[in-house]
Amino acid sequence: MEQSKFSSPFILGILGGGQLGKMMLYTTRKWDIQTYVMDTNEDAPGFQGSDVFFAADITDYDAVMEMGRMVDVLTIEIENVNVEALQDLEDEGIKVFPRAKTLRLISNKAVQKQFYNDNNIPTAAFEAMEIPDLNTKRPFPFIWKSATGGYDGKGVQVIRNVDQLKDLPAVPCLYEDMIDYELELAVIVARNASGAMTTYPVVEMEFHPEANQVEYVLCPARIPNEVAQKARALALQVSKAYEHVGLLAVEMFLTKDGALLVNEVAPRPHNSGHYSIEGAVTDQFEQHVRCVLDLPLGSTDTILPAVMVNLVGDEGHEGDVIYDGIQEILAMPGVTPHIYGKKQTRPFRKMGHVTIVGNDMETARALAQQVKERIKVIANSSTK
Ligand SMILES: Nc1ncnc2c1ncn2[C@@H]1O[C@H](COP(=O)(O)OP(=O)(O)O)[C@@H](O)[C@H]1O
Ligand SMILES: [Mg+2]
Repeated sequence: MEQSKFSSPFILGILGGGQLGKMMLYTTRKWDIQTYVMDTNEDAPGFQGSDVFFAADITDYDAVMEMGRMVDVLTIEIENVNVEALQDLEDEGIKVFPRAKTLRLISNKAVQKQFYNDNNIPTAAFEAMEIPDLNTKRPFPFIWKSATGGYDGKGVQVIRNVDQLKDLPAVPCLYEDMIDYELELAVIVARNASGAMTTYPVVEMEFHPEANQVEYVLCPARIPNEVAQKARALALQVSKAYEHVGLLAVEMFLTKDGALLVNEVAPRPHNSGHYSIEGAVTDQFEQHVRCVLDLPLGSTDTILPAVMVNLVGDEGHEGDVIYDGIQEILAMPGVTPHIYGKKQTRPFRKMGHVTIVGNDMETARALAQQVKERIKVIANSSTK
């Protein structure tokens, strides 16, 4: 008989104890599955829900090897881990999902984009280089991206003239055609270790104009059904190409002439899937746990149209956090706030999110706007 994972000595290891790790732990708590979690210190959102917490750096080879050898399955909540250690653990026979090989293909944007070209996956035209080419023939404007280390729009810039090029850091990067897109979409693909696959409905992302962070996520996206079908098929193709195990969030552009271009992927639960805790039959975190433990996949069906609003620190506020207006939004129908548990706020820091469900998308989107206007993540003025 197969070893039980429930109420048993089985241990799932999670590298990273941020909000994504914390929300994965809702499932391991629900199912009484033991977890070992690693993050730099015990202030991490994932500390409370873990069984054993390793206060260590997930980019440290020895730390990852030590915890990895103690667990039955190892997964991640953030890509920025010591991939060399993951590879060595795999070689020792420990189940590591997603695999080191996949993380290597994703962690460098130039390698990731080349992978799409090699696998006939449509993506914006690009060229990779060791340092910014100041004599480029590429017409302005175009997009510069740092090959590694970027997230939440850091490491991405629109380049409009040669002066801006001169200000770029001398690091490996890519120049990419700037896409005049209609919408930014995302599809989360779930694939378990046995190869069973499913996709979540297509979501639509609305971005904050300055911070370059997602402001609203709408599920389902307001697109024709045939575009949605095409987007889900494309996302499946991407997950298969990577032979990915776990969740894969596929970000895409829908161009004005109706084409879909893959922008980038994230090999884990993703901001664009947070709505699923209230909005879907199986939330993305439970689905990720199902994938890496090789359990049957859950239904990805939507229960009600949902909108997700990120709660990020207000500009000009730094210090002990206060969620101003949380009482009022709790009084709104279908509104559920999630507080990650970071004690200190600073401008644009991801502190939580709010899910708004409604009987139709129009109602949910309108209510989301009210939520956004009412709740503010500010600092306690006595500690500012
Ligand atoms: N080729 C492009 N054309 C137009 N906008 C882009 C392009 N690439 C990225 N962007 C914009 O920049 C954002 C961040 O870029 P992305 O590659 O997703 O980096 P990150 O790792 O920071 O999420 C995207 O969500 C999109 O709004
Ligand atoms: Mg992105």
